[in-house]
Amino acid sequence: MITDSFQGKFEQVQAAIADGPITPRVAPEDIRTHLQSRFDFAKPMALDDAIVAVEEMLKGWQVHVTHPRYFGLFNPSVTFASTVADSLVAMYNPQLASWRTSPAANEIEKFTLDWLARKFGLPCETVSNFTNGGAEANLSAVTVALTRSFPGYGEVGARTLHATPAIYLTGEAHHSFSKIAHMSGIGRNALRKVATDHNLRMDLTDLAGKIEEDRANGFAPFMVVATAGTTAAGAIDPLPELGDFCRTHGLWFHVDAAWGGAAILAPSLRNFLRGIEHADSVTCDAHKWFSVPMGCGMFFCRHPENVLEAFRAEAAYMPGKANGAALDPYTSTVQWSRRFIGLKLFLSLVSHGESGYAEMIEHQSAMGRLLRQLLSDSGWRIVNETQLPLVCFTREGLDIRKFLACLYDRQIAWMSEAQIRGESVIRACVTSFRTTERDVQQIVEGMNRIMNVDAALPSVPAECR
Ligand SMILES: Cc1ncc(COP(=O)(O)O)c(C=O)c1O
Repeated sequence: MITDSFQGKFEQVQAAIADGPITPRVAPEDIRTHLQSRFDFAKPMALDDAIVAVEEMLKGWQVHVTHPRYFGLFNPSVTFASTVADSLVAMYNPQLASWRTSPAANEIEKFTLDWLARKFGLPCETVSNFTNGGAEANLSAVTVALTRSFPGYGEVGARTLHATPAIYLTGEAHHSFSKIAHMSGIGRNALRKVATDHNLRMDLTDLAGKIEEDRANGFAPFMVVATAGTTAAGAIDPLPELGDFCRTHGLWFHVDAAWGGAAILAPSLRNFLRGIEHADSVTCDAHKWFSVPMGCGMFFCRHPENVLEAFRAEAAYMPGKANGAALDPYTSTVQWSRRFIGLKLFLSLVSHGESGYAEMIEHQSAMGRLLRQLLSDSGWRIVNETQLPLVCFTREGLDIRKFLACLYDRQIAWMSEAQIRGESVIRACVTSFRTTERDVQQIVEGMNRIMNVDAALPSVPAECR
């Protein structure tokens, strides 16, 4: 079988990662000295030796995001099929900038994206493309929304606009929007922070009030960014209500479902994404909960004419346009030269099937519920409410940084720090389909040991205060 030898290597790597440390202990100087002493481009090295040397470095010197006890920043364990796909892509190296140069690859991507657009309930005219990640998809959304809302924006730029454009989002939205506002020329102050409710979801009354006030003060509101699965706490903004609001007020409705979008495949979760079907544009990252390697983001938009206007390009040196309905990605997306990003999602979906994916997502969701329950049972204070497998928690008097240092040092798990309502807390997100009940139990036991928890008498050890 084609995959046999590669699969052996893949399983061996995954097993070694699961048995090994999660968090490295290394300083920049250690790595720099090592590189200087082992490698010299003036003296070519046998490829086999170089591969072994590089793999040693990767094994020892990275946070292992595919470890079953990595509860981190949406970086997933990866399916075998998706890693095969990345190797195939590198070997054939198709250029997807134009349809004519890569008909097969372009159509495989379209096939995959059209399927997901239908799952989201977006209309059949929706255009979509793969991106490097969620930040690029969000950039695409802001660029197209500006192009649609301000006809002069594309030709003469932001300086010609009659009023300062404004984008509405909560303090929980992803920070890529800050850079995007800067890069797009509307400026970081164009981001208007809307208040949240007790579950960190966008507050519609505050949104309406801010828009009215801004209009009166000479701003030009044009876009609302809802997040379906916020980065820190996994909150899902009220999508149906926001969709209605945007339609009524003539605003672009973007849903950043970079992580949470995959929930559309899980029978017990898809209802929480209700309302996404009314979005003008959607961001969803396959390199998060679809368990494929980075980078694999996706951008969906229901207004093809605005997408084609925003990314319009003419160049005599590019191959001529294909006949028929095929789009050339260099004229309809941010990128020019384009890697065959979508094969890893296509091959993974083909080999696991929709039901296999539903199972993986449901499993992680169940592990998230278990984690929430065990933490709460042993006296941790849970500070976020979400249906997605992301738990934020703390304990009175805990120094989060010191506690996380203990956690890393003892190789119990990898978790991160988050700010929830101004309070520093621990953030744990289940991101691996390999995480088992036993992993979750052992992690909570390990954390309780650090705290020296005798359920009746919790105390904070000196090293973690
Ligand atoms: C909600 C959300 N949107 C966008 C992004 C940015 O995605 P990427 O890192 O793939 O560019 C992230 C990253 O975690 C995210 O959580």
